[in-house]
Amino acid sequence: MRNVLLLSHLAGVIVWIGGMFFVQFCLRPVAVTQLPPAQRLPLMAAVLGRFFRVVAIAVLVIVASGLLRLLDVGFAAAPRAWHAMMSSGLIMAVVFAYLYGICYPALTAAVAAADWQRAGQALERIRKGVVFNLVLGAATIVVAALGL
Ligand code: HEM
Repeated sequence: MRNVLLLSHLAGVIVWIGGMFFVQFCLRPVAVTQLPPAQRLPLMAAVLGRFFRVVAIAVLVIVASGLLRLLDVGFAAAPRAWHAMMSSGLIMAVVFAYLYGICYPALTAAVAAADWQRAGQALERIRKGVVFNLVLGAATIVVAALGL
């Protein structure tokens, strides 16, 4: 059971962190240089819509599998790194909920209205949240893997 939980946990982490890395460092820089706002913003909204749907599932799997392992071992007996991971993981989940629940609907509404200025502002808010989660996620992986 431990291995199944760890595998689910890590699969979710790979999808979430890897996807954010791809969007930030591969998709966005090319879209910004090659596409005008009227093409780039609908593209980004559609890509993020698919990505966020998958991330919502990944977040549930990560939090559930992590908490089950913690309960299994007992909070008091769990290593410090696990407690640190739970805190940063929950912060990342709240940031994701804000991006998906508030910023993303603002982006799709602006895109539907062809209001590129508002769409650009909403996308910029999403980008900042994604960078925040990417940095916190990378730090979490370092802490988890090195057991700091
Ligand atoms: C509520 C959120 C989270 C909780 C409660 C949690 C809890 C745990 C626990 C208990 C383990 C040990 C599993 C085992 O050895 O059987 C673990 C492993 C791990 N977690 Fe998390 N986690 C959370 C979120 C995250 C996040 C957001 C990341 C990455 C961004 C992450 C990355 C890892 C990694 C890389 C391991 C493997 C460490 C190793 O085997 O040495 N976790 N997590």
